[in-house]
Amino acid sequence: MPNAKISAVGCFVPPDVLTNDDLSRMVDTNDEWIATRTGIRERHIAGPETATSDMAVKAARQTLEKAGIPAAELDAIILCTVTPDMLFPSTACLVQDQLGASGAWGFDLIAACSGFVYGITVAAHLVSAGTHRKVLVIGADTMSRILDYTDRTTCILFGDGAGAFLIEPSDSPNEGFVGFANEIDGSGACFLNMPAGGSRRPASAETVAERQHYVKQAGPQVFKYAVRKMSELSETALRKYGIDPREVKMMIPHQANKRIIAATAERLGLPEENVIVNLDKYGNTTAATIPLATWDALEQGRLKKGDLVLFAAVGAGYTAGVNLWRWTY
Ligand code: COA
Repeated sequence: MPNAKISAVGCFVPPDVLTNDDLSRMVDTNDEWIATRTGIRERHIAGPETATSDMAVKAARQTLEKAGIPAAELDAIILCTVTPDMLFPSTACLVQDQLGASGAWGFDLIAACSGFVYGITVAAHLVSAGTHRKVLVIGADTMSRILDYTDRTTCILFGDGAGAFLIEPSDSPNEGFVGFANEIDGSGACFLNMPAGGSRRPASAETVAERQHYVKQAGPQVFKYAVRKMSELSETALRKYGIDPREVKMMIPHQANKRIIAATAERLGLPEENVIVNLDKYGNTTAATIPLATWDALEQGRLKKGDLVLFAAVGAGYTAGVNLWRWTY
């Protein structure tokens, strides 16, 4: 069975920046509160003409360019998002068409902040089954479209962006996918969700008046779960594959809160230089944080061939996932 490797990375963030100071003119908050409680300084916000598929296509094109392959060679597109252009058709279909990926099938994967980790887990298995040679996994979210900019507890946290990995078979057993530990716990559904717009509460004048089409979050509950689960699941994954935490060269975590990341790194005994943090620039871009952070790690020359990389995420659902990969280039 072939193993799967990450052969290219690409990303896109919209040009407009919303700073903490900008937010302090919209809701009762300030730069100091946001920076100390979350680590976020600014986030990028999509203009009114830009939807999730537009950012996804830009990230995809950059990934294909890096890999030096035409879109027609793709076998599958997995689009991880909670902010699709519309509920159906899937945003994967819209992206396939815009890319001209004439040989690809694909689907949207809804797992909120864990979406990208689940996406690369699925891609690794499609490739190692021997049935797929080129799978594009895209994480893209336009969170600003579902944020209530009168609610200071949520609107400060998120930003917009997209990123992608190309997953291909590897010839070497010393690189690529090592393994995963993923889980869901739907008892946490009530703590982070968008209540209306689905079959339970379809859009109506009432749901709009009640502001039910926005992100609702019980912040402290989600925070406690994230702190516990991110480190627990990382330890589970390392134990499952017999890997000592000291072997982890780089942890690339979901970027929600610098305190969640610091607690996980501390529990695993990872020094700061082995952890990527870039939420100060982008905020929480949901499914896009991990490819955006991987892009930054590459730009900073912090990833080398053979490095053991731990991707970890926790999100709405609850969902949680950890992937271990040996870096390829
Ligand atoms: N500016 C200023 N004050 C704010 C504020 C803001 N943007 N948001 C909340 N506050 C206030 C609260 O009203 C509360 O005031 P009170 O004590 O008078 O009631 C106080 O700050 C503390 O609020 P609390 O919610 O307990 O703060 P916290 O330290 O838990 O931080 C989060 C809030 C949202 C940053 C934190 O809970 C968190 O990061 N949760 C996880 C969120 C997340 O990452 N979700 C994405 C999926 S992983």
